[in-house]
Amino acid sequence: MLLFKETSNLELNKKSQTIFESFSKIDKQTVVPMKFGWLEDHLSAKLALFPTNSGAIFVDFLEGKKRHRRQFGGGKRQPMARAVGINSNKTPTILDATTGMGNDAFVFASLGCKVQMLERSPVIVSLLKDALDRASKFNDTGIMRIIKNMSLINDDSANFLLKNKPIIDVVYMDPMYPKKKKKTAVKKEMVALQNLIGADLDSSILLAAALQVAKLRVTVKRPAKAPIIALTSGIKPDTCIKSPNTRYDVYFCNSQSF
Ligand SMILES: C[S@@+](CC[C@H](N)C(=O)[O-])C[C@H]1O[C@@H](n2cnc3c(N)ncnc32)[C@H](O)[C@@H]1O
Repeated sequence: MLLFKETSNLELNKKSQTIFESFSKIDKQTVVPMKFGWLEDHLSAKLALFPTNSGAIFVDFLEGKKRHRRQFGGGKRQPMARAVGINSNKTPTILDATTGMGNDAFVFASLGCKVQMLERSPVIVSLLKDALDRASKFNDTGIMRIIKNMSLINDDSANFLLKNKPIIDVVYMDPMYPKKKKKTAVKKEMVALQNLIGADLDSSILLAAALQVAKLRVTVKRPAKAPIIALTSGIKPDTCIKSPNTRYDVYFCNSQSF
């Protein structure tokens, strides 16, 4: 169950309470108890999840891993960038159909792509919105350039794609994979996401929708040894790009390779 975490700052409290009250009963179901509220320090307040069994989870486009990636990031030759067709003179438009904590979307945006971020969990969307809001107030031209490339929509991506048929080069998917029985070093962020939203068991519906809409390609991020997403049409990836723990299954659309 997701519970509300109060703060003594009345203005902040009101803001987070309004967001919390907009969540439905289903949004508030969690595997382990969690609180939703502000993570405050003397510099800033970040909207965060507070699981009982780990530290606070929030999205931050300014500090930590994202800052490091921004400064020293893997560049256009990294597997993830090649998997969506980024190269020295091409920056496709990307619809990230499974935005989650926005890590991958941020990398694409920092490499110069316009990224439309879709996320169906309103709780995650509130964390993303808060991070975008904080980043947009940060006085840094590098950050502004990246943030301007990112837009956010709260919707189910399969529905959104089929209803709106957006003109987009690449649809990118990184659905939540079922929890492994064997204990592996899963990042705490991912554990919290799994405890909040569980596995994404409808990825084949999303992939089928993405294949109908993407102009150039659909790229699916999978654990290295995971099976491909099974489609009733029998369509299989045209190619895959591998990195040590991850595989990117690439489906070219209309026989075009980007
Ligand atoms: C594994 S996480 C993605 C992590 C993300 N790539 C990142 O870099 O932080 C999967 C996310 O996709 C979202 N998701 C899964 N299927 C979706 C769909 N059909 N529409 C919108 N969001 C979806 C889930 O709610 C979850 O937040």
